Amino acid sequence: MSLKKRFLVTMALPYANGDIHLGHVLEAVQTDIFVRFQRLRGHEAVFVCADDTHGTPIELSALKRGITPETLIAEAYESHRRDYAGFAIGFDIFYTTNSPENRRYAELIYNNLIKDGLIIEKEIDQYYCEHDRRFLPDRFITGACPQCGAQKQYGDVCEACGATYDPTEIVEPRCVICNGVPVMRRSTHFYVQLGKCETFLREYINREGVLQDDMRNFVTTWINEGLREWCISRDGPYFGFAIPGTKDKYFYVWLDAPIGYISSTDRWCNETGRAIGDYWSPQCDTEVVHFIGKDIVYFHTLFWPVMLKSSSFKLPGRFFIHGFINVKGEKMSKSRGTFIHARDYLEKIRHPQAAEFLRFYYGSKLMPNAGDLDLNAEELMSRVNTTLANNIGNLHHRTAVFCDRSFGGMVPDAPWDEAIAAEVEAAAAAIEGHFDRGEYKLAVERIHALGNRGNKYYQDGKPWELVKSAPQNAAVVMVTCVNLMKALAVFLKPVVPALSGRIERKLGMTLAWNDYAFSLRNIKMGPTEKLVRPLETADLEPLFGASVNESPAAEDASAPDDLIDIDTFGKVQLKVADVVAAEPVPKSKKLLRLQIELGAEKRQIVAGIAVHYTPESIVGKQIVVVANLKPAKLCGEVSQGMVLAAKNADGSLVVVSPERQGTSGARVA
Ligand code: MSP
Ligand code: ZN
Repeated sequence: MSLKKRFLVTMALPYANGDIHLGHVLEAVQTDIFVRFQRLRGHEAVFVCADDTHGTPIELSALKRGITPETLIAEAYESHRRDYAGFAIGFDIFYTTNSPENRRYAELIYNNLIKDGLIIEKEIDQYYCEHDRRFLPDRFITGACPQCGAQKQYGDVCEACGATYDPTEIVEPRCVICNGVPVMRRSTHFYVQLGKCETFLREYINREGVLQDDMRNFVTTWINEGLREWCISRDGPYFGFAIPGTKDKYFYVWLDAPIGYISSTDRWCNETGRAIGDYWSPQCDTEVVHFIGKDIVYFHTLFWPVMLKSSSFKLPGRFFIHGFINVKGEKMSKSRGTFIHARDYLEKIRHPQAAEFLRFYYGSKLMPNAGDLDLNAEELMSRVNTTLANNIGNLHHRTAVFCDRSFGGMVPDAPWDEAIAAEVEAAAAAIEGHFDRGEYKLAVERIHALGNRGNKYYQDGKPWELVKSAPQNAAVVMVTCVNLMKALAVFLKPVVPALSGRIERKLGMTLAWNDYAFSLRNIKMGPTEKLVRPLETADLEPLFGASVNESPAAEDASAPDDLIDIDTFGKVQLKVADVVAAEPVPKSKKLLRLQIELGAEKRQIVAGIAVHYTPESIVGKQIVVVANLKPAKLCGEVSQGMVLAAKNADGSLVVVSPERQGTSGARVA
């Protein structure tokens, strides 16, 4: 084994504003598998998390429910801890950002940003509600998205198209409290000048191992597009930390949220008699590893490193960035009621191993990339039953029952099959690498293959015949099977610790990584516990509804999760269009208003290409449009479709055109 390493591992701090759902659980499981794997290998891995308790959504929810934010976050804290515990998430500490430690670190980091000359003060126009007598920050304002025109979007980010913008850019703004029309007022705010840190950030994100390949380009594009100043203050009333030396200004929640990683570590250090410097000082040899979702990459890879560097904290060594959980191919959405809450999963599926089954299912899908993952009941059932019940569970059962019956519950006293031992040795090296790189899907596939190998070995070895004709040879087969089961229990332990625990109890040992190596003969085993009870449709129906299919349409275990079938593609109507006129949209730098023809049909499309195309340069071109997109209003202009364009690595846009003159209105497929 390599030298003992030390990891400080975090997952994103869930908002205290809502319940834990199966997207949160994906992240928790991904992180927990990593932590358990490193500990199993004998490394130290401290797993730190907390509730993210500040900001307008929390204040707003409390306001709506007529309770204080403190009460709200206290309730969330209990419920979050319980939900994560239900999935055996092994935090060393689950703390809160509304803590004295977090206030102290937030002030420290803020003061150091000032010392480094990175903060400037600016007077800006902001919406203010005269009825409620307050400034209206992002979440207190709704209106139409300035990019795509989607209605009822908050003032900071559009849920429909993902665009982020300033609250003053929102179209037809309204106060969320009273639905009144707000007015503009001037207010002073503090900004971090990220642009000053461009050289550092470019160097940092390109450091070996820090970012996944799929993300490095992404973040580089953001830097290329220009690092905007980041506003870190909000006007009171605001649930958060007051900014020292100001009147009624508060730290924006995204300033103190990541600082929660440090302050929670600090709290844990105090509770356990450790030194914070061993985890967060730049000199220490701890590796800080962050697990986050793809939606919060900007905060973590551009803002956070600047904060850390300015206060001489350790920079994160690695980010694991995952995609989103979709249910039946669609984004889980509060408004559409397709959210599956962790609590519902735990309570409605009446199978004692349901929580571990989800861990296994997620484990069997996760790779170190930001692709979205689809969650569906049939696949959950088939993965669990195929690998855990019919493969691993079967080998366990055969092995245990045979040893119980024919060898008096002993691991026989015989040499094991060296060829199998060598195969396990090779698998161990591969699986170790997979877990370490976050390639859990590949780890699980390799474990599955090894289980298959074991079952075939047993089948071909025919110990039930040998035991009569050549008992010593039967003993060889069974010693080999027991040791193979032990190895499988080791490999599965980070993913399904309770399942491995059943094997550990039978063998009377607590397994560490190196115990994959064959070692057991001539010992008495404990009683046999059934490893897995298969999942049945009846188990799943209370959660997923009565539509769970008995035999899932032949699932291809190796199909990447972001593939779609032809029917899904068929829903998108792409058509060739002629651009007959184009003009800028007043008050918008990004939008062009295009008049297009699809054969005889005339339409108007508003496209965000004004930075890249002048009206003259696009008129007369043939382009490709999405013809069956719901009409939307952008900056007051109706848009009946969408222009296809590719975004280059440097951020520039090129519109897609047929390679030769095509028929106007022709379907592209
Ligand atoms: N509070 C911030 C994070 C602060 S970290 C200093 C936040 N909270 S969140 O509750 O909205 O999300 C927490 C984590 O869950 C994020 O990493 C987010 O990407 C992840 N997920 C939220 N919904 C998800 C899915 N549907 N699927 C997978 N993960 C998703 O952001
Ligand atoms: Zn109002």
